[in-house]
Amino acid sequence: MKRIKDIDLENKKVVIRVDYNVPLDSNLNIVDDNRIKESLETINYCLDKNCKIILLSHLGKIKKEEDKIKKSLKPVSIRLSELLNKKVLFIPETRGNLVNEAVNNMKSGDIILLENTRFEDLDEKKESGNDSELAKYWASLGDVFINDAFGTSHRSHASNVGVSQNIKESCLGFLIEKELDNLKLITDNPKRPFVVILGGAKIVDKIGTIKNLINKADHILIGGAMAYTFLKAKGLDTGASLIDEESLEFAREMLDKTDKIILPIDHVVSDSLENSSFSIKDTISDSDIGLDIGPETIKLFKTYLENSKTIFWNGPMGYYENEVYQNGTKELCDIISKLDVISVVGGGDTASCVINMGYKDLFTHVSTGGGASLELLEGKDLPGINI
Ligand code: 3PG
Repeated sequence: MKRIKDIDLENKKVVIRVDYNVPLDSNLNIVDDNRIKESLETINYCLDKNCKIILLSHLGKIKKEEDKIKKSLKPVSIRLSELLNKKVLFIPETRGNLVNEAVNNMKSGDIILLENTRFEDLDEKKESGNDSELAKYWASLGDVFINDAFGTSHRSHASNVGVSQNIKESCLGFLIEKELDNLKLITDNPKRPFVVILGGAKIVDKIGTIKNLINKADHILIGGAMAYTFLKAKGLDTGASLIDEESLEFAREMLDKTDKIILPIDHVVSDSLENSSFSIKDTISDSDIGLDIGPETIKLFKTYLENSKTIFWNGPMGYYENEVYQNGTKELCDIISKLDVISVVGGGDTASCVINMGYKDLFTHVSTGGGASLELLEGKDLPGINI
C-alpha cells in the first residue's frame, strides 16, 4: 500500500474517496463537520500539485428511492466549499453524461463532488456489492486513486476497493495515514493498564471486539444501553430499558468467563426517552428506562480510568440525543481530558459527542472511523487499507 507522498501527483486527475458520511438534522444541516475538516489536508495537497480533483463519498444507507432526498451530498459540497474557500462543483449524479461532461471540462485546481455513491445501491447494490462495471467507470474518471475514507475502510465497496483494482496507481491519503499511526497506540502493545470503555445500544455489532478485548484489555467499562443487556444477563432488574435480546446469551458467557467487565452500579432513569425529568436509582423498577450512568458509576469508572495508561472509548454512556442524558458521557470526557494517558476515541456518535462537547483537542486521537476502528482493534485486515 503506497502513501500519498510515494506518488507523483503533479497535474494528475485524482479520484479521492472521502468519508463524508456526516450526521444531518431534519433540516439537512450538518450536525458535525469533523469528517469534512479532516479531509482537507489531502485535498489541499492535491491542489498544491495542480490536480483536478474528483471526490467520491457515501452518506448513510440507501435502501429505497425516498432515502435519496435526505441523503444527498449537496449540503456537504456547500460546507466543503466554505472550508476550502473555493468553488466545489456538485454533480447530482453518480455516473453518466453530466458527470462525463463535468470531468472533461475540468481545469487544474477544479474540484467536483459526485452524488452519494450509495444511490447506486438501488440498482442491485452496485456500490456495496463492488460491481466491477461501476468500479471501472469511476476508475476511468482519473489517473490516480487516493483512498482517504478511513471510516469506510472496513468495507469492500466499488468506490474504494473497486476503483483501486481498476486504476493504474492507488495510494492512501493523509487522513488514513494519521488514523493508522494513532490507532497503533491501541492495537500494538498498548501501555498498561489498558482500559476500554464501550457504550451504545447494540452488542451484536461489537461481539468480535468484546471477545478480542477480553484478552487484550485490563478492564472493560460498559455503559450506554449495552450495559442493560449485561445487567439482565446477570439476573438484575432492567425494567423497560433497551435490551439486545439476541446478545443475552453472549453477555452471560462473557460475564462467566471474565471479571474484567465493569458494569454500572446506579442509573439515571425515566419513563420515556423524551421525558426530561428523571430519577437516580441503584435498582431499576418495572416502568423505568435506564438512560444514563449515575453518579456512583461515574466515580467507579473514574477509579479505573485514573489508574490506566491507555484508554480506548467507543459508544456514548447514555441516550445522548436528549441533552439531559449526556451527563455520563460529558463527565467521562472531563475525567479523561485531565489525565496524562493515551486516549483514543473510536468514531461515530462518541466522536461527535466529544467534538460537540469541546473536548476533541484534549484527547490523543479522535478517530473518524467507528466500525473501522473497532475492526482494527479486533485485529482484522481492512480491505480499504490494503489497496
Ligand atoms: C461510518 O460512519 O462508520 C462509515 O461512514 C461507514 O458507514 P457504514 O457503516 O454505513 O458503512
